[in-house]
Amino acid sequence: MNCIDLMVEEHVHIKRMLAVIRKYCYKILKGEKVQYEDFFKIIDFVRNYADKHHHGKEESMLFNRMMEELGPTAEKLVRHGMNVEHDLGRLHMQELEAAVKRVLDGDDEARLDVIANAISYTHLLHRHIAKEDDVVYKYAERSLSKETLDRIDLEGEKFEKDAKAEGIQDRYLAMVDEFEAKVGSYSN
Ligand SMILES: [Fe+2]
Ligand SMILES: [Fe+2]
Repeated sequence: MNCIDLMVEEHVHIKRMLAVIRKYCYKILKGEKVQYEDFFKIIDFVRNYADKHHHGKEESMLFNRMMEELGPTAEKLVRHGMNVEHDLGRLHMQELEAAVKRVLDGDDEARLDVIANAISYTHLLHRHIAKEDDVVYKYAERSLSKETLDRIDLEGEKFEKDAKAEGIQDRYLAMVDEFEAKVGSYSN
């Protein structure tokens, strides 16, 4: 299994959830009825699939190797770019979770903070994913040694197998399907 190809594929699933998030926010904006508890499921997807499962592989298998092997350019790109963006995404989820709780407690104005954090997260992730697909992953594939790339593939295989045993991929991909069935996919 090519681990980088797999991560590009995971980006597609993450973008499907970003589209769902936007649709939920548009409903709020239009004053339509929204099941606010659904945001907790979305946050669960972001934390455990997009972040732990996907960013987890990037940070512990790929980005660390790029910093070790490719010098200051890679270090700058990862430390001050990709990792900072992963952290900013975590902050948006924290703030989104707090805002959803406030809405459920009756704070109507907190709907603004739900939209602001959820939409900011989608913008951040779209830019981040495009940068990885177009620049960072290609740079890694071109520049890392064959041994390192092989090692990443092997580690990725084990990571996927362990996650599969816990039902991670199945659970979260089913969740995206479920949400799309409810609000539509980004192609419509
Ligand atoms: Fe990333
Ligand atoms: Fe990524």
